[in-house]
Amino acid sequence: MNDRPLSDGNRIPLLGLGVWQVPNGPECVDAVSWALELGYRHIDTAQAYGNEEAVGEGLRASGVPRDEIFITTKFFPRNGRDPAEEAARSLERLGVDHLDLYIIHWPEGGPTWAWPGMEQARERGYARSIGVSNFDVAELDALLAEATTPPVVNQVQFSPFEHRTALLEACERHGIVLEAYSPLGTGRHLDDDTVAGIAERVGRTPAQVLLRWCVQREIPVIPKSTHRERIDENGQIFDFELSDDDLSQLDALDRTGGTGTAVERPWWP
Ligand code: A2P
Repeated sequence: MNDRPLSDGNRIPLLGLGVWQVPNGPECVDAVSWALELGYRHIDTAQAYGNEEAVGEGLRASGVPRDEIFITTKFFPRNGRDPAEEAARSLERLGVDHLDLYIIHWPEGGPTWAWPGMEQARERGYARSIGVSNFDVAELDALLAEATTPPVVNQVQFSPFEHRTALLEACERHGIVLEAYSPLGTGRHLDDDTVAGIAERVGRTPAQVLLRWCVQREIPVIPKSTHRERIDENGQIFDFELSDDDLSQLDALDRTGGTGTAVERPWWP
């Protein structure tokens, strides 16, 4: 199976569709329903994206049963509201009765204040699993020192160019699954010569090579596209393997120096 266990006993599919910056309209509905038709079983949205209604419409349009789909949304910390109540609002917008994963979008206001509300969201059945996003090593440590229920996922910017080995190791040590957003560098990494060279040799596309680098190491990945053919292309990553030499050539592209940070330049205060 192309999924991975979480420390709370649930499982996360390794491939998901990301819908950051997709407006709340037909483009988002289509992307979600195409992804599900093409075999994706994991959709990643956020309160801050403003497109949960369209994601919900895409889920229903696909006809795929709810219990086969893993849905993530993210608590928007800037409004300072109660995460559990905000989860209930997300459920209404999405038109579903539970989230599979609910994560704090970024540690604005500090890494711990929102966690009791996240735990409440889980206790009330709004979310089966809870986690965080954009947390660095120190923020994870601070949260783990206070949490009753530990986070099961930390979703961060991650690719061969942003390899964050210190953060990956800290997550593994704590039983937290690191999940990769912007795995294509929002498109920037697709033109790299090393990536293109490996793609040509293995008969795949640069996007497939970048995504395979993640899933071959069991790192869940959520590439964003609103084009059906690209959504399809990005899903064809479980029928080939990169060699150890390919993996180490890609590892050498890291520009972070193996950092424990979560994102190149934090965009929150
Ligand atoms: P589009 O949505 O127009 O298809 P990331 O997941 O790293 O954020 O990257 C998303 C960006 O990469 C989007 O601009 C998306 O464009 C583009 N993209 C996604 N998949 C592919 C692909 N297979 N080939 C080329 N560009 C892609």
